[in-house]
Formats: sequence, C-alpha cells, structure tokens
Amino acid sequence: MASEIRLIHLATGNAHKVQEMQRLANESGLALEIVVAKKMPPVEEDTGTFIGNARKKALALKATLPADAWVLADDSGVCVEALGGEPGVESAYYAGPQGDSAANLRKLTDVMRGVPAEKRAAYFFCVLVLIGPDGAEHGFEGRCNGVLAPEPRGGAGFGYDPLFIPDGFAHTYAQLSELDKNKISHRGRAFAGMAAWLKASALA
Ligand code: IMP
Repeated sequence: MASEIRLIHLATGNAHKVQEMQRLANESGLALEIVVAKKMPPVEEDTGTFIGNARKKALALKATLPADAWVLADDSGVCVEALGGEPGVESAYYAGPQGDSAANLRKLTDVMRGVPAEKRAAYFFCVLVLIGPDGAEHGFEGRCNGVLAPEPRGGAGFGYDPLFIPDGFAHTYAQLSELDKNKISHRGRAFAGMAAWLKASALA
C-alpha cells in the first residue's frame, strides 16, 4: 500500500506561491506541508508550453533533493482569444524580460483598449507537475474562462487579476476574496485535480 505524502517541495523561489499552494492544500482537506525550495536552481522557462515549463522546473528541483522527495511545480498564464492566445506562456514577461507585473497589466489593458466586449474572451490556464520518489510525472490542468474588463478593477490578488472577469461573475479576480477565487481559479481547479488523484491513490 502506498504511504501518505507529508511534505511536498514546491519548485519556486516565490514565498507567496508557497502560501497560496498551502492554502489550496488546506482547503482541499489535505494534511500536507508545502515547503519552498531551499535552493531552487535557475530555470529558463523557454519550452514554449505550460507543461514543458512546469516539467522543467519540477525536474530541476527533483535533481537537487533526496530520492524520496515529492516535488511540485506549476506554470500558468492568461490567454486572450483576440490576441491568438497571447500573452499565454509568456504572461510573466509580456512587457519585457524584467517580469514587471504592473507593466504587464498596463500593456494588456492598452493592447485591448477599444476591443469590443464580444471580442474580449480570455482564459487563465495552469499546469501542475508532481514528481514522486519513483520519478513518475503526474500532470494536472486547470482552466478558468472569462472576459477582460475594459479597465483594471479591484485591489486584491496579483498579476492580471484586476483585468479578468471569470464567467458567471460580475467582478474581476481582484475583487474576489482569496477563498472565492480559489474555488474557481485555474490554479484552484488544477490543485483540486491533484488532490482528487492523491486521495484516490491513497497518498493523502
Ligand atoms: P508563473 O506561473 O509563475 O510562470 O507566472 C505566470 C504569470 O501569469 C504570472 O506572472 C502572472 O502574470 C500571470 N498569472 C498566473 N496566474 C495568475 C493569477 O491567478 N492571477 C493573475 N495573474 C496570473
């Protein structure tokens, strides 16, 4: 019988991401500790796909840890239909290599200025890659469809949150509480898929 996972190393140097993943684990009822990578090796996110980038981050961290470690990596972004799916996998660097999220938000707002409501469809996408001691890779995807608001609205969240109105809502991601966002967000849905798999596999 598989033994339960107690701890997952997250392939990021970003403490905010660890907190968010820990909250998702708690909300999914998983007794798991998510820890930040002590030494996340530098990884160029250059594969051109969400899954490719997530795998690259997970494998890079896995190689630095003891063989029995579980590693999780994510990659995500916003895909705008009128822009042929851009910024997509390049979401973090849309306004330049420095990865300035305020500049990214400004750029997307400007690029979409004047585009009519019926052409403002967009979706957020997230891929999670989990690698266990046996080296097997498990991928989980989450998507949240919506539209882009004409101007940024709301002060919560991060990145493109103020511009994105999820389907079925009148408010942007940045106007939702973290708990409400997690229930419907791309990352929340990918995490729910992973949580269901862990439970079904008696790993959590
Ligand atoms: P990464 O997954 O850390 O590579 O980040 C991808 C980029 O997509 C982030 O820098 C944000 O700009 C954007 N992004 C991903 N998820 C979200 C979200 O939930 N809200 C707002 N922006 C997001």
